[in-house]
Amino acid sequence: MTGPESGAERTAGPARRAALEQAVTDEVVASFAHARTERFTELMSSLVRHLHAFARDVRLTQPEWEAAIAFLTATGQTCTDKRQEFILLSDVLGLSMQTVGINAASSQAATESTVFGPFFVEGSPRIELGGDIAEGVSGRPCYVSGRVLDDTGAPISGARVELWEADDEGFYDVQYGGDRMQARGHLFSGDGGAYRFWSVLPAPYPIPYDGPVGQLLDAANRSPMRPAHIHFMVKAPGCRTLITHIFVAGSPHLTDDAVFAVKPSLVVDFVEHPPGTAPDGRVLDGPWHEASFDLVLARTR
Ligand code: BEZ
Ligand code: FE
Repeated sequence: MTGPESGAERTAGPARRAALEQAVTDEVVASFAHARTERFTELMSSLVRHLHAFARDVRLTQPEWEAAIAFLTATGQTCTDKRQEFILLSDVLGLSMQTVGINAASSQAATESTVFGPFFVEGSPRIELGGDIAEGVSGRPCYVSGRVLDDTGAPISGARVELWEADDEGFYDVQYGGDRMQARGHLFSGDGGAYRFWSVLPAPYPIPYDGPVGQLLDAANRSPMRPAHIHFMVKAPGCRTLITHIFVAGSPHLTDDAVFAVKPSLVVDFVEHPPGTAPDGRVLDGPWHEASFDLVLARTR
């Protein structure tokens, strides 16, 4: 032997290799031990442990590491003030729904939450109770009503109910560019917590798939489609803000939502009616749909 290592050391067995790999993990974890907050130490130590365990588990190759860096770089480069590709990545990896679940209200009575999605816009138009948010988007008229309640069953009047949905082509207003606001709005619940509004029957649509996240779905042979839904965000003093959707019962993609956001308690019948007069007196010359859903907020107490 010419060097300091013996042949036995150079051909280290699996146990020695594992010990060397573990030493790298331990050294990096230790480097976060004195972070400015304990929570940061906790977050980074756990992240490093899981990342290293992943790399060791799959025996990550150098080309695979390079592909991952290129993918994350492209994901960042796809983000603009109108498009958040990293949230989309979190959504298709199920991280968004995992985080929603971890932070769910403990009250069993409260309406279940689901993903926020990237298409909420501040400053939506206010509509009166029973008004129409469609603003001319195409689609069958759809009347949605219910009550805003707290988790003891008490009605909440004056709750702010934000609503947004795609048109029947599967696009949100913001995806057309420009400033038009359609199929979105907000209202305040009335006496007895009642809310009601008109819109259009939602349709299934694909999440944006023309970027890196779309390539990931394609490589996985996964669909970008989401089942038909309407988004709600409901705020009332003394209550946890509720972010949820209602899904159309029978919609395609209820069982393969690209972002894993469907919960059975949020699937609602959108009953089809023939032309005629709706409960609020509106006369419809074509078929229309009606859905009813109570929005139950957890008290912060
Ligand atoms: C949405 O429902 O608007 C949505 C949610 C997650 C990703 C993309 C879109
Ligand atoms: Fe949506």
